Amino acid sequence: MKTAFIVYCSPAGSTGHVARVIADALEERSISIHLLDLGAGQDPSPFIALLKTADADDCLFVGSPVYRDVAVPPVMKFVAGLPVVNNCPAVPFVTWGGAISGIALWQMGKALQEKGFSLVGAAKVLAVHCMMWQSDHPVGQGHPDADDDRQVRSLVSMVIERMSTSTAKPMPLSDLDYQPEAMGADFKKKMDQPWMIIPKTIDGERCTQCGTCETVCPIGAVALDPGPIFNARCFDCFKCVRECPEDAIVPAVSLEKMVAMIRKRVEVFDERPPTRIFF
Ligand SMILES: Cc1cc2nc3c(=O)[nH]c(=O)nc-3n(C[C@H](O)[C@H](O)[C@H](O)COP(=O)(O)O)c2cc1C
Repeated sequence: MKTAFIVYCSPAGSTGHVARVIADALEERSISIHLLDLGAGQDPSPFIALLKTADADDCLFVGSPVYRDVAVPPVMKFVAGLPVVNNCPAVPFVTWGGAISGIALWQMGKALQEKGFSLVGAAKVLAVHCMMWQSDHPVGQGHPDADDDRQVRSLVSMVIERMSTSTAKPMPLSDLDYQPEAMGADFKKKMDQPWMIIPKTIDGERCTQCGTCETVCPIGAVALDPGPIFNARCFDCFKCVRECPEDAIVPAVSLEKMVAMIRKRVEVFDERPPTRIFF
């Protein structure tokens, strides 16, 4: 592998953690990397310009959290905006909060293939469920852990090995279609539905207009006027709710109710293994 491109979205940090593990593993092998955090306000055009010339010796790693069974809009929009490449290898990876990893990997893999990328590996990595920050025992607590990191590093080694073997065939997309058939079909319907947002109101008594919500939003979806106003870019990551120092952003569904729903989903789906490498 000559050059690796790593792009990810990570409002709560777990997908970013996996991206850094990948970056470290590549750098240890002296592979040059370009890293793009879609939530850091970086201009993506230099990254995309370099990616335009990517070929079979390069590799694109794309990371997304799983939200309601699918990949998040900033990641899918980024892939949709990519130029068509000539058979450049790609590795989608997701972090999921232990409820269900849905069809996010398949969805990302499909979109990447449509842009001319060939799949050479993938990973789903268990992470702490970012909606449970107020719980004593959040689902996925402590993840990604050292063993998750080890599995991610082994994926990087396998991808490098595979790319150095001229006869190696790309991974079929169907390998990423691992949910039970009826459930997978249901999740796929979500890809064509409008993105769900839980409405949020501002508690005017509590809000001090400090601007934290505007600063921490990974997608520029919040502006102060004079209190927080949300625009259509919001994809419901809840970072503003989590980080508001006054708990002034109030979702229409209470956090207690959401936590109860998440725990129910964990019980019903019981998805295993928690972290899995596809190769
Ligand atoms: C709106 C929303 C929906 C989520 N839906 C799911 C889900 O369907 N299944 C799941 O296992 N985790 C779900 N999660 C948890 C995240 O996938 C998990 O915490 C992920 O690691 C967050 O990535 P980040 O830390 O990089 O932001 C959801 C989180 C949010 C905010």
